[in-house]
Amino acid sequence: MKIKEITLARLDVKNFIRGQVAQISDMVGGGLAVNALSGGVDSSAVTLLAHLALGKRLKSYFIENGIMREGEAKYIVGVFKKLGVRVEVLDARPEFFRALKGIDDPEEKREAITQTFYKTVFGPLVKRSGAKFLLQGTNYTDIEETLAGVKRQHNILEQLGIDTKKLYGYKLIEPLVALRKPAVRAIGKALGLPGEIWSRPPFPGPALAARVIGEVTPERIEIVRQATRLVEDALKNSGAFQYLAILHKDKVTGVRDGKRDFGLQIEVRCWESRDAVTAKPTRIPYPILERLSARITTEVKGVVSVTYNITCKPPSTIEAI
Ligand code: XMP
Repeated sequence: MKIKEITLARLDVKNFIRGQVAQISDMVGGGLAVNALSGGVDSSAVTLLAHLALGKRLKSYFIENGIMREGEAKYIVGVFKKLGVRVEVLDARPEFFRALKGIDDPEEKREAITQTFYKTVFGPLVKRSGAKFLLQGTNYTDIEETLAGVKRQHNILEQLGIDTKKLYGYKLIEPLVALRKPAVRAIGKALGLPGEIWSRPPFPGPALAARVIGEVTPERIEIVRQATRLVEDALKNSGAFQYLAILHKDKVTGVRDGKRDFGLQIEVRCWESRDAVTAKPTRIPYPILERLSARITTEVKGVVSVTYNITCKPPSTIEAI
């Protein structure tokens, strides 16, 4: 790979910030740039770097794509308001669900999300604003996994030889491409992100769609969203790298009130990892898993089965699609 990694041990935080702020200023010149903020550590760090470089010439958007966690848009707008950064929420739910309709295949889902995000949503938005650049938080691991052919991460374009200027009408600025997650957290912390953001567990670009096996519909997203809230609530103090809920495609026979209930299956995963390249399942105490299973099967409508994944990465991956 052309990009050279800057490891956490080699990272000079102040120097990195100074260099990236200068580079963003140089690239954008006197014009405007649009910034895609999802609320993860990476895009949050990029938002503050670009805010330092461009001030009011930066337009930050949170795309409400319908596949985010509960209450996410409001929460992120509030966090950044306190930091002096105005974030506009753009409702693109119809566009995303239309693009995902009827798709089962993991790579086709990822491609549908990529095209909707970059072409349908950001294409006209960047053009309308008069900006020539889109800032985003692509990191070293995203590029590595895509180039290795494990999964096409939703945000990898130019590294695959895709000319975004020609296809979508703007160039990408990706200040974090040389860093993995631990280094991005150090940058986010130094930039003044609150701890709840710089220490946030990773969340994938394709959001909850990466956690629905089979077709992604608003109804199926709502199920995995509710299960996600319960999993995050149960495991937030586990110290794990990442924890998530997955909605399976197949139903199984359960029993409720003495009758067959052919219902849904939720799989829980919780990972120990340093950089998401390899990972091990967390040895969660059994009583926590039992309570979580009881909550999911009573509070999430239609779920009759909860499983806990005990596979390592590899051969598993962290997300399900
Ligand atoms: P996997 O599932 O490949 O995930 O083991 C490795 C790490 O990357 C996150 N992930 C993504 N992040 N865009 C992202 O920005 C994506 O398309 C994507 N897919 C997976 C995943 O949550 C884990 O932390």
